[in-house]
Amino acid sequence: MTDETSGSRPLLAASGLCKDYGGVRAVRDVSFELGRGEVLGLIGPNGAGKTTLVDLLSGVQRDDGGSVLVDGRPVGRAAFRRARSGFARTFQHPQLALGLTVRQNILLGRTARTDHGLWRMVTGPVRGALRPRGPADDRLVATLLAEVGLDRPDRRAGDLTLGEQRLVEVARALAQDPLVLLLDEPFAGADASGVAGIARAVRVVRDRGCGVILVDHNVDLVAELTDRLVLLADGAVAFDGAPADCLSSPEMNAVYFGSEAAS
Ligand SMILES: Nc1ncnc2c1ncn2[C@@H]1O[C@H](COP(=O)(O)OP(=O)(O)O)[C@@H](O)[C@H]1O
Ligand SMILES: [Mg+2]
Repeated sequence: MTDETSGSRPLLAASGLCKDYGGVRAVRDVSFELGRGEVLGLIGPNGAGKTTLVDLLSGVQRDDGGSVLVDGRPVGRAAFRRARSGFARTFQHPQLALGLTVRQNILLGRTARTDHGLWRMVTGPVRGALRPRGPADDRLVATLLAEVGLDRPDRRAGDLTLGEQRLVEVARALAQDPLVLLLDEPFAGADASGVAGIARAVRVVRDRGCGVILVDHNVDLVAELTDRLVLLADGAVAFDGAPADCLSSPEMNAVYFGSEAAS
């Protein structure tokens, strides 16, 4: 494939994604694209399906229909296959190995592409993270900590504040060298320096020509960092466009302030 042809394809193309939980249609027929160097804000009220969509993209949940293409190619569904295709994520409720250090948790990011996947490494015996580390590991951890604005890599993850745990998750995702970084409510519980660290990480990924999907309730903050907003309501895309257009749209008004306001 030439650079020209790969350049004309979106980095990520999701089409017709669906997910049912029992009787609940959490995600219904969601399609959108993400370009290289693009930061997409995913907004919507509680229960709109944002986390489920992140779960489907990262392979943590299996979809009930639809397709995901990276650079025009279909990708496998399992989480470790999605990681191999370039997806890395953080969790709305941080998922760190709490008994391990910050450094060990960050280095766990590199296990996401193995057959075990990140999840089993975090919840399991995490042997891979405990192998002797080399100078290259220390350099990587130092670089990533500087990017997110954390220090003291020898602290236990379980001793960190929620905001600090989120930053470690962002650093762990960056350790995967992602093509598509998925951040699920990274600003919740973050102080000013946490917000700055996350914003820096978003820009680092964007400036590499990769893509970021940023989920958050803080619509103003998301709009500031993103090129485009996708508004989810009841599992479906209600608006997809420029932040300013989204914020002033009738759809936004309807979703956040009730349908009467839109009419
Ligand atoms: N594991 C699950 N089992 C059953 N229902 C779920 C599960 N996860 C999410 N849901 C339901 O799917 C809908 C979308 O939830 P979610 O994706 O968490 O929304 P958001 O992240 O936008 O708040 C909600 O109605 C929620 O209750
Ligand atoms: Mg959520």
